[in-house]
Amino acid sequence: MVGESTIKWNPFAPDYFNDPYPIYTLSRQSNPIQKDQFGNIILFKYRDVAPILDSPDFEVSSLSSYFESKKDYIFQNTAQCPFLAKTTSKWLMYLNGDIHRKLRIAIGKILFSYDFDRLIQEAVQDCISHFEDYEELDIVDFSKYFIYHILKQFIGLKDFASLENVFEFSNMAARSQDLFVSKQMYLKMNDCFLRGKGLFAEGDFKAKLINELDGFEFEEDDYYSILAITLMAFFETSKDNLTVSLYTILSSPSLSDYVLNANKKEIKLLTEECIRYTSPLQFTIRINIKEVDIQGTLFPAGTRFILGLASANRDEEVFESPSEIKPNRTVNPHIAFGKGVHICLGALIARKEMEFGLKPMVAFLQNFNINTMQPLRWGNQIFMRTLESAMLKRN
Ligand code: HEM
Repeated sequence: MVGESTIKWNPFAPDYFNDPYPIYTLSRQSNPIQKDQFGNIILFKYRDVAPILDSPDFEVSSLSSYFESKKDYIFQNTAQCPFLAKTTSKWLMYLNGDIHRKLRIAIGKILFSYDFDRLIQEAVQDCISHFEDYEELDIVDFSKYFIYHILKQFIGLKDFASLENVFEFSNMAARSQDLFVSKQMYLKMNDCFLRGKGLFAEGDFKAKLINELDGFEFEEDDYYSILAITLMAFFETSKDNLTVSLYTILSSPSLSDYVLNANKKEIKLLTEECIRYTSPLQFTIRINIKEVDIQGTLFPAGTRFILGLASANRDEEVFESPSEIKPNRTVNPHIAFGKGVHICLGALIARKEMEFGLKPMVAFLQNFNINTMQPLRWGNQIFMRTLESAMLKRN
C-alpha cells in the first residue's frame, strides 16, 4: 500500500548525491510506490515505470505553464524580465499531441541531415590532441570538450560562445526541470536564459528550422526555445553518460582491457550497457489523463507520477547483477532513453558518440591514473545525475 513503509526516498539525505542507488534499491524492495508531501507518486520498479512511458493514458506535464503559474512567486520584488516560461515553451519533452508530433518530426529531420559519423570522429581526434600534454586531467572537462566540439559544428554558436558559457547555459536548462529548486536558483536561471539568447548564431541549423517550420505560427523566441532545448538535450546527457562511463571503465582493469580488445559488436553491447548503468536522466514526470490502477491502487486523473528511470534500470527482476557493468549483456531492455512517443530523439547520436569514442579515449586515458587524493564531486541535481569533477594524474 502507498505510504505505509518507513523506507522513504529523500533526496536531501546526507550522501544522496554521491550515490542515490542504495535508496532506489531499498525502495524497490520495500516501498516501490511512494507518495511525497506534495501528493506526487514516485515509482521505482521497472514493471510500473516502463508501461507508463508508452501508455496513451499518460501525458507529459507542461514546464512552461508551471513557470507561468509561479511567476508572481519567483519574480516578486525583482525587475527581471521573466524569461523562464518563454525559453521552455517549445521544449519537446513538455509538449503533447499535435504540436509535439509535428515539432518532433521537424527537429528529427534536421538533426539527421548532419553527418554525425564524421563530426564525432573529428571531435574524438580533436579532443585527444587537445589534452595530449596535460599532466592532470578532469574526465568531466575531457567529456565537455568532446561534446562541445560536436555540438558547435552543427547548432550555430557565436564566436564568444565559449565552452564555459555554453556549459553554464546547458546546466541551468537542465536544472530548470529539477524538483525542489530554490527561488534564487530560478532567478539565476532566468538571467542565464536572457543572456543565452546571445549565444546562438543565425546559422545553418536555425535556417533549416525556419524552413521546416514553415506554416507553424512561430515567433522569434520560439526558435530560441528550440535551440535551447536542442543544446541542453545534446550536451548535458551525453556529457554525463560519457563521464561516468569513462570513470567506471578506467576504475576497472578488466573493463579497460575489454574495451581495448573489443570488436565493433562488443563495443555496441558495452555502449548499451553503459547507458543503462549511467542513466543520466534519473527521473521523468507523467500525468494520467484518466483514473489508473497501479498494483491494485487506483489513482485519480491528474495525479503527478515521478518515474524512476534509473531505478527501473537497476531492477533485479529484469537485469541480472544490475549494479555491475556486464559488457556482454545481450538482453538489455533499459529505458535510459525513455520509451513511447517521447523516446529520446538523439539516442542514435548518443550511441555513436560512445561507439566511435570509447576505444580511442580509453586507450589515451590509460596514460593516467585515478587521482585518489581528489575525491569525485557530484552535482546536487536530482533529475539529472551529474559528475562535476573526476581527476586523473599522468602515470
Ligand atoms: C546518453 C545520452 C542521452 C540520454 C540518456 C537521453 C535521455 C533521454 C530521455 C530519457 C528522454 C525522454 C524523456 C521523457 O520521456 O520524459 C529524452 C528525450 C529527448 N532527447 Fe535525449 N538523451 C540523450 C542524448 C540526447 C542527444 C544527443 C540529443 C540530441 C539533440 C537528445 C535529444 C532529445 C530530445 C529532443 C528529446 C525529447 C523527445 C520528445 O519529447 O519527443 N538526447 N532523452
